[in-house]
Amino acid sequence: MSHTVKNILSFLHWSFKLVNAQVELYKQAWLAPAFDELVLEIAHLPPGQIPTRKMLAGLLASWGNNLFTADLDYLEEVAKQAVKTSGPILECGSGLTTIILGLLAGQHGVEVWSLEHIPKWYSRVNKILQRYKISGVNLYLSPLQDFGSFYWYSPPFACLPYDFRLVICDGPPSYQTPGGRYGLLPVLGQRFCANTLILLDDADRESEIEVLRRWSTEAKVNVSLRKLTYGSFALVNYFPK
Ligand SMILES: C[S@@+](CC[C@H](N)C(=O)[O-])C[C@H]1O[C@@H](n2cnc3c(N)ncnc32)[C@H](O)[C@@H]1O
Repeated sequence: MSHTVKNILSFLHWSFKLVNAQVELYKQAWLAPAFDELVLEIAHLPPGQIPTRKMLAGLLASWGNNLFTADLDYLEEVAKQAVKTSGPILECGSGLTTIILGLLAGQHGVEVWSLEHIPKWYSRVNKILQRYKISGVNLYLSPLQDFGSFYWYSPPFACLPYDFRLVICDGPPSYQTPGGRYGLLPVLGQRFCANTLILLDDADRESEIEVLRRWSTEAKVNVSLRKLTYGSFALVNYFPK
């Protein structure tokens, strides 16, 4: 089969999956309240309570940005971990996940540090954090930097804690970043606790498979894959050497 035919088939395959995922999402979000109302409902949940799937589906459907936003299963896992983590959270790649983390982790006094490399996107997320007075999120504009064999965010080292317990790894975008999400461990691994949990989205894509392979050979990690109907994510437990 020629390379062009293969590319077309692969594009059709992913388009079909994306359309199916959207249909499924809108079914689950059917009659869910509007974004503003959902944010208020989630902000007033008792600490420790996870938003329902319908609430998360409603947020996702009204957020828009479907090509770049995490899917419902990943958001649900983010929410589950945010309500139970006992230490600070690092987020790579901001968006709806930042809002959900801020609302849920903030309820039990856990702070979020989020890295974003696109100025326009940073402003959009920052405005929403301010509009809803979500104060426990430290959102940083962190341009991508050349680290030699890979690119990754230039983190504000002086401001970051030394004991991250949860990492939401959904950026930088792999298709335009040499090394994709690989830089997380070499650049910030020394700021993680023993058994820090990394939620790596899109774990079945070629670039993320390569990231997991490199992390597994270079660091002490336990990886478990969560297969979804339309993709997968990985739960990676990291143990500093
Ligand atoms: C996969 S997205 C992160 C999404 C976030 N975790 C969420 O669930 O909403 C990774 C990065 O893509 C970029 N991005 C998000 N939306 C975009 C858009 N519409 N166009 C171009 N880049 C976008 C942002 O820099 C973001 O940090």
